[in-house]
Amino acid sequence: MLFNTNYKEQVISDYRGNPLIEALPSIMSPNEVVERLSIYPPYNPRERELHSHYRIHILNRLFQIFQPLPMNIDLENRISRVIRQGYIYRNPFGRELSKGFREDYKRMHSTCGYINNGYNTSACGFTLIGISGLGKTTALNHILDIYPQIISHSEYQGVPLAAYQVVWMKLECPFDGSIKGLLFDFFSQIDRLLGTNYYEKMTKTRATTDVMLTAMNQVIRSCSLGLLVIDEIQHLSTAKSGGSKRMLNFFVNLVNKVGVAVVMVGTPRSAGVLQSEFRQARRGIGIGGDMICDRLEKGKVWDLLINAIWHYQWTKEKTPLTKELNDAMYDETQGIPDLVTKLYAIVQAKAISSGKEQITTKLIRKVAKENLRLVQPMIKALRSGNLREIAKYEDISIGNVDFSDILNKTKQNIDMNYMLEKVQKNKEKENQSNKIVVKEENNKSKRPKAKKEPINPHDIRYIVNEAKKDSKSPYEALKESGDIITYDKDIFSGVIA
Ligand SMILES: Nc1ncnc2c1ncn2[C@@H]1O[C@H](COP(=O)(O)OP(=O)(O)O)[C@@H](O)[C@H]1O
Ligand SMILES: [Mg+2]
Repeated sequence: MLFNTNYKEQVISDYRGNPLIEALPSIMSPNEVVERLSIYPPYNPRERELHSHYRIHILNRLFQIFQPLPMNIDLENRISRVIRQGYIYRNPFGRELSKGFREDYKRMHSTCGYINNGYNTSACGFTLIGISGLGKTTALNHILDIYPQIISHSEYQGVPLAAYQVVWMKLECPFDGSIKGLLFDFFSQIDRLLGTNYYEKMTKTRATTDVMLTAMNQVIRSCSLGLLVIDEIQHLSTAKSGGSKRMLNFFVNLVNKVGVAVVMVGTPRSAGVLQSEFRQARRGIGIGGDMICDRLEKGKVWDLLINAIWHYQWTKEKTPLTKELNDAMYDETQGIPDLVTKLYAIVQAKAISSGKEQITTKLIRKVAKENLRLVQPMIKALRSGNLREIAKYEDISIGNVDFSDILNKTKQNIDMNYMLEKVQKNKEKENQSNKIVVKEENNKSKRPKAKKEPINPHDIRYIVNEAKKDSKSPYEALKESGDIITYDKDIFSGVIA
């Protein structure tokens, strides 16, 4: 949350004297946008020397890369404009705001639904349409990150102003098109931001969709929501009959009556939903329109992306990006960023795990064939350029290519190999040390005999041995040495005698 709001002087006169606009970060130039949006994670060429099982982990860093593309700069520009345009008519010091609240109140207590009294804002919404994997969601997330999500006002130009401003909120249409799911998502996010308990209230009172929509409208007004982004709008088409129409009408009303900028994001399938319901309802809005997101054309923009990604290479051998490799990457991904990062990551994983440690065109083709099987029909259609064919597949979700699964399997394989290798090495070491013990033991048997004790002339063994040399009997020798005495010299001799 942003406290101690710093109100910035505005270059554009329409934006002056409006705390909701002056509290936003300054408008950026395209250069600043590129600077701000790009994400190049750290890369150290020495990481190539690490053991393969470490490098497989590092490959995940590829998915952090964000290379701003011209379409992202365009998107940032549109968002920056619609947020501010919406706030023009919602200046807390202006009269329009309280008028809106009064209308809402009347609507809540009437049975005739929305009243159109001709109050219109200059705000607008737009739709962002493009096949899956072009980076719509990622780009939006990075762009929204530029803005603080919530700003706390306390005083503006000496006048007390105790208010929270929620700059943006992003909702995702549930997979089953459930409108209640979408509304619950909204309330739980608001609760998280403002510390309220709307979610609990809504569930406890079993609020109807209508009640929730009215409450949502009130909350959006009172927290000065600037931008509402609804992602995966194509799921609305699966909503129960009439559901999508009702929801779209609600969004159009938000744009027209409340002044919130609404951005709807979806695949070409959603264009159908929007065309029939939204466009018609949106007619009086004025500016806005659709932003069609397309795959990257082969050329400068593609080169920008592939060069940014290619830099991140963790194979032992460095493979520069040749024209042949570049062509193969484009041909197999048809300029869809999501596929580019996934293909490159799997190619590297295979090169590392196989021990070949080199990226080749052959490997790229092989991986694409084996691991991007699910999207092959779409790639084929895109390659052919046949619009009818493309339309058939344009909603294929690239998320279906389970990269993490592939990587996990490779990781497990490598970990397993590593473990086996380690166990083997340990075994070898053990064997070696065992051999040393054996050697020692063998040596023991051959060990030179311990040095002879110094000769003791009184030792009977010595006396006997010496006697043998002189061919004397041991008895004689021992008798001579005095170790055997005759009985007459016996200590008992005196007694016997
Ligand atoms: N500009 C980009 N630079 C690098 N990678 C990108 C870029 N755009 C998309 N990607 C890759 O594509 C993936 C999927 O993008 P996503 O935003 O989910 O697409 P969409 O919402 O259009 O289906 C991202 O996680 C990222 O790895
Ligand atoms: Mg998306």
